[in-house]
Amino acid sequence: MMKLKGEAGKMQEAMPFHDVVRVRKSARSFLADPVPEALLQSVAEDARHAPSNSNVQPWVVHIASGAARDRLSKALLEAAAEERMTPDFPFSYDDLYGVYRERQQAQGAAYFEAAGISRDAAEQRRFAILRNLEFFGAPHVCLLFMAPVYEPVRVAGDVGMYGQTFLLSLAAHGLAGVPQTLLSLFAGTVRDVLGIDPSLRMLFGISFGYPEPDNPVNIFPLGKAPVAETVTFHR
Ligand SMILES: Cc1cc2nc3c(=O)[nH]c(=O)nc-3n(C[C@H](O)[C@H](O)[C@H](O)COP(=O)(O)O)c2cc1C
Repeated sequence: MMKLKGEAGKMQEAMPFHDVVRVRKSARSFLADPVPEALLQSVAEDARHAPSNSNVQPWVVHIASGAARDRLSKALLEAAAEERMTPDFPFSYDDLYGVYRERQQAQGAAYFEAAGISRDAAEQRRFAILRNLEFFGAPHVCLLFMAPVYEPVRVAGDVGMYGQTFLLSLAAHGLAGVPQTLLSLFAGTVRDVLGIDPSLRMLFGISFGYPEPDNPVNIFPLGKAPVAETVTFHR
């Protein structure tokens, strides 16, 4: 088995790729312990190898920790309370239909069940959604911005590649994260608080850190469509 450098340069066993992709799950409950600087650098080092159209690498990435993270969360909660939404791109569950609608509903039901929140507890559900803006207690949040080059859908593809590489690196290092479109609904607030160039558009964020072990919201089972449902092999 390969060895890689982990925390403070210590050697650790590399997890087989088969396991890394399966261990990676969205975590929504984190320990407060910050990730050591060397480990943060190691994840950023992995993520920069993501592919992109013509190797343009149109991602601009900001990671907030400590006081900056707390400032951002406070501003996001205030913006939500005042209904100041400033998304760069539209997003609505109303656009879902058929199997896509079914998968979204199944995910929502599984998450709320794991969180112990019943279908008709509207206020508790609202609080659970607002936890996004507290980064689910994670000590770090990564904000992914798109450089204003070519068609946004192409840039979004590249930034998605970066995001998944980042998430897989977290998993390989024993960390976890959750990608969050919800954070990007407050793109203007994120730019204001962190002093980010207004020409950069926000795609999503990733709250991350050490996942709280055994918390049901981190381990509930979620179905993934079998290969035959989404892949057609042509010969
Ligand atoms: C681009 C993107 C945006 C997402 N936005 C949110 C979000 O705002 N809040 C949240 O709790 N989960 C969010 N998720 C997590 C998904 O719900 C999760 O990936 C999906 O249910 C599959 O679960 P898994 O990541 O554990 O495999 C997002 C995922 C992606 C890829």
